[in-house]
Amino acid sequence: MKALILAGGTGSRLRPITYSMAKQLVPVANKPVIEYGIESIAEAGIKDFGIIVGDTGPAVEKAVGDGSRWGINITYIPQDAPLGLAHAVKTAQPFLGDDDFIMYLGDNLIKSSVVTLVTEFQAYRPAATILLTPVPNPSDFGVAELENDRVARLEEKPKNPRSNLALVGVYLFDRRIHDSIAVLKPSPRGEYEITDAIQGLIDTKLDVRSHIVEGWWKDTGTVDAMLEANRLILEDIYARNEGEVDAASKIEGRVKIGAGAVIKNSIVRGPAVIGANCRIENSFVGPFTALAENTTLTGTEIENSIVMGDCTIEHTPSRLANCLIGRGASIKREQGMPKTMQLVLGDSSSVVMP
Ligand code: TTP
Repeated sequence: MKALILAGGTGSRLRPITYSMAKQLVPVANKPVIEYGIESIAEAGIKDFGIIVGDTGPAVEKAVGDGSRWGINITYIPQDAPLGLAHAVKTAQPFLGDDDFIMYLGDNLIKSSVVTLVTEFQAYRPAATILLTPVPNPSDFGVAELENDRVARLEEKPKNPRSNLALVGVYLFDRRIHDSIAVLKPSPRGEYEITDAIQGLIDTKLDVRSHIVEGWWKDTGTVDAMLEANRLILEDIYARNEGEVDAASKIEGRVKIGAGAVIKNSIVRGPAVIGANCRIENSFVGPFTALAENTTLTGTEIENSIVMGDCTIEHTPSRLANCLIGRGASIKREQGMPKTMQLVLGDSSSVVMP
């Protein structure tokens, strides 16, 4: 079995972050989202990975590498344009050949292992296995209608959903999916939908099985979802201190502190992760915060946020909460001009003021 990870796409819901980086590389608890999926599939013993990439391909390749650190081989497969998940599979067909494959959306996080899925797929040999999870808002997702554990019907973002079971970004297929994709027409939103391709399998009476996800699953395509994924991963971290914490500081709960980090006269309340070579002085870092490497906080309070590397945040007038802050950002209070705010923001940035 091969693995196909989808790391192309537009990422429009995560702008402005996605103007300068791939959403699959946004760090969740200081590790790029895509690496969680790769690790989980590598643990299932799969060695041959294809990664679909778009405009951000070179950055994805630079960050993820050739796979040797996980003992796998990675082939990068450029997709001309983000024309849908089924189009991505079609693009990967020369890599996939006639092999079975597990497809994983590179911006998704799933807590449970994929080992049982793979062994079940190999035992029952259906044309496809999809993963499902109950959601409160099924109209926002692809939704499955089941008869026992067989999938009877799939609908993309239905107005009147027939179940609350949404498709999760993990699928297993055998070679028959390619025949179904070959005859697909674009959907009303102009994409080649994988749900339509799977419906094609069902329509030709092929066996499509489903599996309800145990544990949580998160699509990290929006800021709120990214912050929630960060919280979920931080829930499980262990405390470790490879940095320096002075006697005036207090580390409360589970906090992971990277090598070379320095914390002075500050409170860090876990779960939180402080990257290598961060400097935190006269500050408060609250629960569910991930500060990536080389970030400096001075006279600042922050909680429930992701701060990518090389940022400088100084003397902010109020506590920062629920923030997603891109690499190299600088946030400072200008002394002596209390009535003005100077903002240099990229397109589609969002600022919420008290
Ligand atoms: P989506 O999040 O559904 O799409 P998107 O990346 O275009 O984002 P947005 O809706 O915010 O504009 O994509 C799910 C995953 O699949 C994500 O990792 C990107 C990837 N993908 C591809 O690789 N190729 C594609 O053609 C599409 C649509 C998505």
